[in-house]
Amino acid sequence: MPSPLDVFRSDALAGHVALITGGGTGICRGIAHAFAKLGADVAIVSRKAEVIAKTAEELSHETGRSVLGLVGDVRDAEAMARVTAEVIAKFGKLDTLVNGAAGNFLAPAAALSPNGFKTVIEIDLIGTFNSSRAVFEALRTSGNGLVLNISATLHYHGTPLQIHASAAKAGVDAITRNLAVEWGQFGIRSCGIAPGPIGDTEGMKRLAPGDAAERAKKGIPAGRFGTIEEIAAAAVFLRSPAAMYITGHVLVVDGGHCIALPSIL
Ligand code: HXC
Repeated sequence: MPSPLDVFRSDALAGHVALITGGGTGICRGIAHAFAKLGADVAIVSRKAEVIAKTAEELSHETGRSVLGLVGDVRDAEAMARVTAEVIAKFGKLDTLVNGAAGNFLAPAAALSPNGFKTVIEIDLIGTFNSSRAVFEALRTSGNGLVLNISATLHYHGTPLQIHASAAKAGVDAITRNLAVEWGQFGIRSCGIAPGPIGDTEGMKRLAPGDAAERAKKGIPAGRFGTIEEIAAAAVFLRSPAAMYITGHVLVVDGGHCIALPSIL
């Protein structure tokens, strides 16, 4: 089976430096893998030291490039400033920030504690702001900066048990548009990817456990879950020269899931 990444030249991202939050696992691990494989210098950050060290070692081994693993919590603005400085110290510059750190669980609105709601907002939304703000000067210096926010399609409709994540991801999409407008003058683009159901991710394990996964596939026009590599390919495209006139846009990569009504036939 060919990889969606095969269409890109093996040095498509040579000379780029990327910082990827949430890069220890799942979709953002896949983006880190793709960026490194295509020649970028990559740093991944997560609050869990053992996870990030293990993933950085695996990615270095898999891609043949030295991937930098950094410990930091996106909820902590000072930590993200330190992380940014560590990336610059190691690689000399920074061109791309991928905001992928996220938290989620299923919870009914009436039973969700205020702290549960706040925690997801702090990781997804405030974390995206903190990280973007921390890298602004570096991206401006790059002259070819990109903030790439990973959101979702939850908030396009009312999604049961997801009030916290929906509110957070709606805010993330707003950040994508605002930064495009404010930072375009500094040579910085701001784009988003809204993945639909993606297999082999922590999110799908949490949101569609067991039989629910098979049932969920029936509502996807493509008839299957997406793959991590398909999201990584979208990220490479948005980072590439092919997308230099795209900013403020959130690319939905979901096999048609969010536009499909339940079939009555
Ligand atoms: C209800 C819950 C809960 C649950 C936690 N809380 N899990 N409430 N149901 N299952 C509540 C806690 O009771 C607490 O509130 C508050 O949330 C904070 O919990 P902590 O465990 O102290 O927070 P923390 O250690 O910071 O952990 C953050 C987390 C955790 C989000 C709760 O699950 C996490 O670290 N997740 C990271 C990995 C992850 O979620 N990946 C999936 C991302 S998928 P109280 O009131 O008790 O103090 C994704 C995709 C979205 O984002 C789109 C999908 C289509």
